[in-house]
Amino acid sequence: MDIQRSVYIKTFGCQMNERDSEVIAQLLGENGYVETTSMESADLVILNTCSIRAKAAQKAMSLVGQLRKQKSQQSQLKICVAGCVAQHEGEQLLRRMNHIDLVVGTQNIYQIGELLDQVDQGKKLTAIDMVDHYRIPAFLPTSGTGTSTASSKFVTIMQGCNNFCAYCVVPYTRGREVSRSVSDIVDEVKVLLDSGVSEITLLGQNVNSYGQTNSVTPDDSPFSFAQLLKRVATLSGLRRLRFTTSNPKDLSVELMQCFKDIPQLCPQFHLPVQAGSDKVLRRMNRKYSIAKYLDLVAQLRSYRPNIALTTDIIVGFPGETEQDFQETMNILEEVRYHGSFSFKYSDRPGTAAENFPDKVPEEQKKERLMRFQKRQNEISLERNHEYIGTIMELLVEQVSETSIKGRTVTNHIVHVDKQNSDLRPGDFISAKIYHAGQHSLKGEMVENNEGTRHRKSPFNL
Ligand code: 5AD
Ligand code: SF4
Repeated sequence: MDIQRSVYIKTFGCQMNERDSEVIAQLLGENGYVETTSMESADLVILNTCSIRAKAAQKAMSLVGQLRKQKSQQSQLKICVAGCVAQHEGEQLLRRMNHIDLVVGTQNIYQIGELLDQVDQGKKLTAIDMVDHYRIPAFLPTSGTGTSTASSKFVTIMQGCNNFCAYCVVPYTRGREVSRSVSDIVDEVKVLLDSGVSEITLLGQNVNSYGQTNSVTPDDSPFSFAQLLKRVATLSGLRRLRFTTSNPKDLSVELMQCFKDIPQLCPQFHLPVQAGSDKVLRRMNRKYSIAKYLDLVAQLRSYRPNIALTTDIIVGFPGETEQDFQETMNILEEVRYHGSFSFKYSDRPGTAAENFPDKVPEEQKKERLMRFQKRQNEISLERNHEYIGTIMELLVEQVSETSIKGRTVTNHIVHVDKQNSDLRPGDFISAKIYHAGQHSLKGEMVENNEGTRHRKSPFNL
């Protein structure tokens, strides 16, 4: 007997996790589940967790805790913890919280259907296999499920990380670096483009080292990330190509030149610097100096002068002095990032930095973070002002009664007053920017060569 059951999926963390949740949603769809937005009425709740900082992990675990009550009132409810906390804690989770039914690690998500079948038979399971030569299964998307907007999709090109930055839990939660084959990636992108998607973001923890740790071509010939970008850019229907994330230590000239050579590659680059002091970078095991980093920034700007740069910063890494922190503030002035994500250092179990002696007190971390964010906000605003008066192409993401939200090639959000009632997500429009805020811009719609609306929306949204 076919019964339709509902699944509620909550995703924490990065875009890798968002993409994994989309895969889970699709696999469950094939197993007869329908997605619901109500946790309270779901038959199955999946929490796809993140453990990058203690707070992220706590947030996920506190939601798991809350589910205990729901399960006591609704005994048929099944609870699955997936993602990075699941990978890291494994069986312990089942022991600590006996209302959990299934723990699924980052390399096991493709087996979720079979695992749930066993859960249906009354078993409690942990599946957290982690192998060095993991092969990301070939996977073809069916429709616009999940969190990325329907016309802009993520495609995983690699998983794991071999860098072992001293603060980072990712090598432990996502395992060793493995790249997907070129043909699997191309096949997936083609399916998306054929269904009307026009923007693709290639995802990996360290995309710059794509193809370096395992074979990605049938004849074992080398294939770099730059070559992959060029290959994907030839596919018809692709208007915008992005990627994330990059480690500066592996950023090749070949890749930087792509910003000159590939018109669809958006002028936007997230290049995490983490700290402005060479001493701190060494202790973080980042393997580049600030001089090298600034040289990369200069080269990127020479290949694409309008490139919008963003970064990640950790303040209060063990041993960070006021002088070191000042150097982080200096890098803000040198690069003038369009935006940044900044965090207080957080001890993660199993990492090298966890055992470093000279921890920075919480209050000091807080104060440094505030100083950093205040200055970044000012710079973001100044940067955004530079767009006033320019005409920018927007990919429409949301349409409400009165306004439109779209995204520029530089990854800026622009709000536009709605004049054309016919607009839908997935359309491209042009807007003249007349106002700049810290986190978004405002624009008015202008006619473009192709007419105001120039592409059909992919999923009839
Ligand atoms: N504490 C604080 N921030 C961290 N990040 C990674 N690990 C930690 C940690 N232990 C930040 C880095 C990384 C981003 C995704 O999260 O800046 O680039
Ligand atoms: Fe969080 Fe890192 Fe896991 Fe992404 S890969 S979910 S950032 S711990």
